[in-house]
Order: sequence, then C-alpha cells, then structure tokens
Amino acid sequence: MRFSSFCSVLFLAVELAVSQQIWDIWQTTWDRSGLFTSLAPSTPINFVSPGAIGMADIVVDDSEVFQTIYGFGGSLTDSAAQLFNNLKTKNSANYWTLLDYLFSPTDGANAAGLNYIRVPLGASDFSANTYTYATSPGDTSFSHFNINNAPSYVFSTLQDILSVNRYLKIHVLPWSPASVPGWMKNSGTMNGGSLTNASVAIYANYLLKCLQGFQSKGLTPFAISIQNEPMNSDTTYPSCSMTVAVEAQIGIAFRALMNDNGFGDVLLIGYDHNWSGVSTYAIPLIEAAPRHSLGTVNEQSTFQSAFPNYDILFTECTGTIGSDWWSDIKWYMDNIFIVGLGYGSSTGLMWNLALDGNGDPLLPGSDSCTNGCRGIVQINSNGTYSVNQEFYAMAQASKAIIPKDVGGPFGQRIGVSVGGELNWALIVGAAHIGDDTDNGTWDPVAVPTTIEFRGMQASYTFPVGVTTLWWFAPAPSFNAEEEDSYALYSETDGKQHPLRFFK
Ligand SMILES: *[C@@H]1O[C@H](CO)[C@@H](O)[C@H](O)[C@H]1NC(C)=O
Ligand SMILES: *[C@@H]1O[C@H](CO)[C@@H](O)[C@H](O)[C@H]1NC(C)=O
Ligand SMILES: *[C@@H]1O[C@H](CO)[C@@H](O)[C@H](O)[C@H]1NC(C)=O
Ligand SMILES: *[C@@H]1O[C@H](CO)[C@@H](O)[C@H](O)[C@H]1NC(C)=O
Repeated sequence: MRFSSFCSVLFLAVELAVSQQIWDIWQTTWDRSGLFTSLAPSTPINFVSPGAIGMADIVVDDSEVFQTIYGFGGSLTDSAAQLFNNLKTKNSANYWTLLDYLFSPTDGANAAGLNYIRVPLGASDFSANTYTYATSPGDTSFSHFNINNAPSYVFSTLQDILSVNRYLKIHVLPWSPASVPGWMKNSGTMNGGSLTNASVAIYANYLLKCLQGFQSKGLTPFAISIQNEPMNSDTTYPSCSMTVAVEAQIGIAFRALMNDNGFGDVLLIGYDHNWSGVSTYAIPLIEAAPRHSLGTVNEQSTFQSAFPNYDILFTECTGTIGSDWWSDIKWYMDNIFIVGLGYGSSTGLMWNLALDGNGDPLLPGSDSCTNGCRGIVQINSNGTYSVNQEFYAMAQASKAIIPKDVGGPFGQRIGVSVGGELNWALIVGAAHIGDDTDNGTWDPVAVPTTIEFRGMQASYTFPVGVTTLWWFAPAPSFNAEEEDSYALYSETDGKQHPLRFFK
C-alpha cells in the first residue's frame, strides 16, 4: 500500500488571466483532521509567473476534453428508503439536514451535491420482502402492472431528494421481473432463474411500464439498465440471469419502444455487472456498459478501447463493515472516483445510500453481504445518523463536477500530466510510509506541488488525503461572454498516476 494521496479540482470562470486564483479548497485527510472540510482560503492563492517547480508539478491542458461526468451517488434500495423514511418520522430536522448535506448542489455550500441515484425496479436483496410490479400470470400487455407495489417511501424519498437537488438523475433497473410460478421466469420465483423464452418478447413492454410508472411519480429516469447482474442467478434473493443474445434482443426492442414513447433521451444500459465480464459479455453486447467493481479497473479500459464512444457507468460497489477507513478511501479514489473516470466512467456509485450500523435491513434469507455491507450513510433507529468513508471519497469528487451556476454544465474530464520530480518525490514518500498493516512505519509526507495552467503557476502543499481545489480563469476562447467551468481531479497513491481534470 502506498499513502500519499490527493485529489484536486480546478474551477475556472471569467477573470483576467493575471487574476487566476485558487478560491476554495475541500479536504479529507488520512488522520481525519479534515472531513470534507472547506478551507476556503481567506487569502486566495494566486497563480503567478512560473518559477521553480515543486516536488510534484501538475500541468493542466484544457485543450484536451474527455467525457462529461453524470454524477456520483448510490442506490436508493427499499432498505435505504425505509431508513430515510424512518428518520423523517423520528427526527424530521435531522432528515432534512442529512438530505441537504448529501444532495444540495448549491455552490460553496457545505454539501456534497450527490446527484445520481440508482433504484431497483421491484425487490432486491435490500428489501423488506420480495415483490414485483407484474403479479398477474399471462398478463402479457401488463394491464395489471402496478408501480405502487413498491413501498411508497421509495417514491416519497426520491421526491424529497429531488426537492433538494434539481439535477437528480435516476437510474432504474430490475433485479427480477416476476415471482409467480409459470409467469415470465423459468424458476417460478423472484430468486434466481432466467426469463422463459416466451417472456423475452414481452420484457421490453415490462421495462416500458416501469419507465411510465416512475414518470407518473414525477421521476422520469435518466437511465435504465435491462437487468441487474445478468450473469448472476442466486436462489436466496431476487436475480435473473440473461444471456448476451437475450439481453441484446431485449435491448433492440426496448430502444425502439422507448423512442416511440417519449423516452428517446433515456440512456439504455446493457451489462450492469462487474469488470470481469467485459470481454465475454459487455463487448459482445455492444451497448453502453456499466459495471460493478468486481474484477479490476484495468478491464474497464479494454471496453473503453473497443468502444471509445460508448458511455461507461460505474454503478455499484459496497464497503464492508469493519474495514479500514483510510485504506477504503484510497481504494475508492484509485479505482472509482479518479482512475475509473480516467478509464472513461461517467458515474461513480456505491451500493446502499443508507443502512444501519449492522448493514441492515437485509432481505430475510439473502446470502448477500454476509460480512455486513456498509451504507454511504448510517441511519440509526433513534433518529441519528453519521456518514461513512464512502461519503467522503465521493463528496470530494462530486464537489468537482456539479454545475457552478444554476443550470450550468456538469464537469467534463480534461487533460493533465505530471512532470518535474513528482515521480521521485512520491515514490520516495511511499517508501517511507510503508504498508497499511504496519503502523510502525507510518510516516505521512505532504507533497509540495506546483500547478501549471496556461503559462501561470500556483503552489500548494497537499497533505496525505484527498483535496479538491477550485480556481477561476477565463474561458478558453477568451470570450468574456462565454463562461466555462473547469474542474481538476488529481491523485497519486505514491507512484505517478495521470491526474484527472474536468471541464
Ligand atoms: C429457448 O430459446 C433458446 C434460444 O433460441 C433455445 O436454445 C432453447 O431451446 C429454448 N428453450 C425452450 C425451452 O424452448
Ligand atoms: C463477476 O460475475 C460473474 C458472474 O456472477 C462471476 O462468475 C465472477 O466471479 C465475478 N467476478 C468477480 C471478480 O467477482
Ligand atoms: C443512537 O443510536 C446509535 C447507534 O445505536 C448510538 O451510537 C448513539 O449513541 C445513539 N444516540 C443517542 C442520542 O441515543
Ligand atoms: C494501526 O493499528 C491498529 C491496532 O493494531 C489498527 O486498529 C489500525 O487499523 C491500524 N491502522 C492502520 C492505518 O493500519
């Protein structure tokens, strides 16, 4: 394990180049002296004429522009929604304070501005019971489809979040479409199995009903996946395996239905599973390819190389109760929020938005999360809550990409490279620091860094932690009428990584 780690963000707006200044800094440090803390410098840090470079020298190139970042967040499972709803009942002030801290996109606010939420269609392994919207066998037109079979707290919580964050993007997907024997699935149960051949042709209609159901709640989805984990059939919780051929057949039919029914703008996502199946499933599927975190992030780059113009969404990863706080944050930055985005992801999502301190409530009988999954937030039955390491990692990232102005654009990744003595400095720093398991050699070393931007230079010393920096500069066209906002991620875990900047 290596330790020097930082993350930076730039924000540029219309100013004369000579007045490029770092205005705002958000920081989470390994020793928790900073916890998504705003350090807004009382004296802004000026960019000046370039002098000697620091031990690290970050060079930003905003003429290179990559993908737009859709956002960060997690899944509002039934369990998470139930806990949010309990909190609202128990302590409404805490509920609204928490929603604000998680989701408010207000510029400069002490809030993460999370804006991307994934929602299971029907029951998942984090539901009170297994239910479905389509309960009538043989109802191939889905005239008895009922969106209200979902607990009402799912929709009320989403509506409350939407009231806090107008940018909320909702991504829906089924774990399993039906539970009645002889209906839609060959297993006759929510848990495990796959679609019957006869159901393949009607499944696209089922998905359309789901979109319309959410739309009827004022929650039109931004994206929909055909199936959660199509390579996974588990007999202890809702799941439904699907071959590449079946998912492709459904995808083609469903895209046409979506386009004909006013959902032409909704992203259709195939292979919502893990990194490991990229070559065997995602690439054959040739649809957009979200993935879970199982496998290695490098496998994501295989897909990115094959399909550079497809969206890649990182959709799910969970913390496990009892794991090390700072090691987790480093892993999340290295695999999801910085490096994953470098491999083309437009989202970085964790699993349950909220769970209690035991990783509950879990679907009775489910064999998932046997070691206890941790939510982004812990909500307790007594009306209190706390945020976990998952929150800090994604809050630092989210602060970099939410629009600066109401209605403005989300961040786009832009070019950056690291020069000067950075390699040497950070590798040596890591060698001093040693392994995570060896407290005796822990010697966190801050990295004195220069940042080069458009012929100007700023200096900042990054502590071991995750840091988000904002600064202002003219739009690249130097057209004062045209404001552009930029953001930078930079990260190193002790050896050189490409840094990630966002426009
Ligand atoms: C279902 O369809 C697949 C692919 O066409 C075929 O191989 C399989 O035999 C069919 N199964 C049944 C039970 O008809
Ligand atoms: C990805 O999912 C497949 C199917 O469930 C599974 O066989 C594989 O082990 C998973 N990969 C990892 C790294 O867990
Ligand atoms: C509320 O519950 C949590 C979790 O059980 C506990 O840690 C905390 O001390 C409790 N707070 C109050 C005020 O009772
Ligand atoms: C340091 O050691 C303590 C006690 O052995 C352990 O709980 C903690 O996780 C260790 N910290 C790190 C960063 O490894």
